[in-house]
Amino acid sequence: MSEQPTKRQKMSDPTVAKSFLRDWEAPEFAKKMKNVPKHRMEIRNLEFLLADAVVKGHKSVVTCGAFTSNHCRTTAVASAQLGLDAHICIRGGGEKVPMRGNLMLSRFSGATLYRLPDSISDSGFFDKMVELSKKLGTITGDEPYVIPVGGSSYPGLFGYVNCFAEMMQQGVLEKYTDIVITCGTAVTTGAIAISNYLTGSKLRIHSFSIKRPLSFIYGYVQECIDLAGLDGVKAEDLVSACVDYIGEGYGKNTEQELDFIRNAADTTGIVLDPVYTGKAARGAVEEMKNNPGRFKGKKVLFLHSGGVFSIYTDQRFDGVMTKEGSAANKVHYWLDLESEPPVGVTAKEQ
Ligand SMILES: Cc1ncc(COP(=O)(O)O)c(C=O)c1O
Repeated sequence: MSEQPTKRQKMSDPTVAKSFLRDWEAPEFAKKMKNVPKHRMEIRNLEFLLADAVVKGHKSVVTCGAFTSNHCRTTAVASAQLGLDAHICIRGGGEKVPMRGNLMLSRFSGATLYRLPDSISDSGFFDKMVELSKKLGTITGDEPYVIPVGGSSYPGLFGYVNCFAEMMQQGVLEKYTDIVITCGTAVTTGAIAISNYLTGSKLRIHSFSIKRPLSFIYGYVQECIDLAGLDGVKAEDLVSACVDYIGEGYGKNTEQELDFIRNAADTTGIVLDPVYTGKAARGAVEEMKNNPGRFKGKKVLFLHSGGVFSIYTDQRFDGVMTKEGSAANKVHYWLDLESEPPVGVTAKEQ
């Protein structure tokens, strides 16, 4: 999904960052959010969530996620731009909080991180965020606005309703019959499903899970439907969820999955990430082979939801790229300037 036109970003003077925030009205504020580095669609729900926080007078936010979370990174960067303090609870990443990928950007953007045990559940995360927010409130006088995992909440839904409206303007209803979505917390799935329903259900929505079971996905989509006040509508009728390609689990990848991501970039120039879009896109491609009836004769749109920053420092790709004899390895060492150009030979790691 391209973002056009490409805009130059006006840098704010950091010394006035906190003061100009006060002058913003929510809608204008939401527009300014478009300038946040946006390799993650979650900026769409943050437009609404952070606007909600500002309108309610908060000066800080608390959110949570895995150490690989794109949502946490986007919250940190967007908050820095808007002069909000970001407090982020994370799990995973080893004993020492790493300085790489999404976490590096979160830390760079001045977020305060809280490392919680790996075993914590999403509901446990939520309780801890509320506890943290209350504690910070007693110290600073500003109880941070709490953003649930993945920004998955009622205001957040509107971000993806907007996304659907944008896709309609780009002719999605005429050009495609089916959409494939990556499913984590299912907020994107819920919002796209509702938007599709409200505009005549012309598309079939396929939600490829990267971690959650069917019961969770349909349950969450049903909650979205109920929140939207759509009486008598069933989640199963709006979405076709697939959990068959979660593989080894959230954030874990097989060699085949990593190779799929490399191959996609090599053959299409589209970069996917191992945790979210790479898993879902591979799932859809595998499903086309394993269950050809599902997509046969359809025009399928894959909704790329962003998240490429994690790939920059994912060392697992070193192995994929440099494997002995791998066609992916196209690095030739031509250090002897007297020698012939090393063309037509297999590249070898030194
Ligand atoms: C790149 C990317 N795609 C998809 C998702 C999943 O979206 P959702 O949580 O709305 O299901 C996430 C985050 O969870 C993500 O970071």
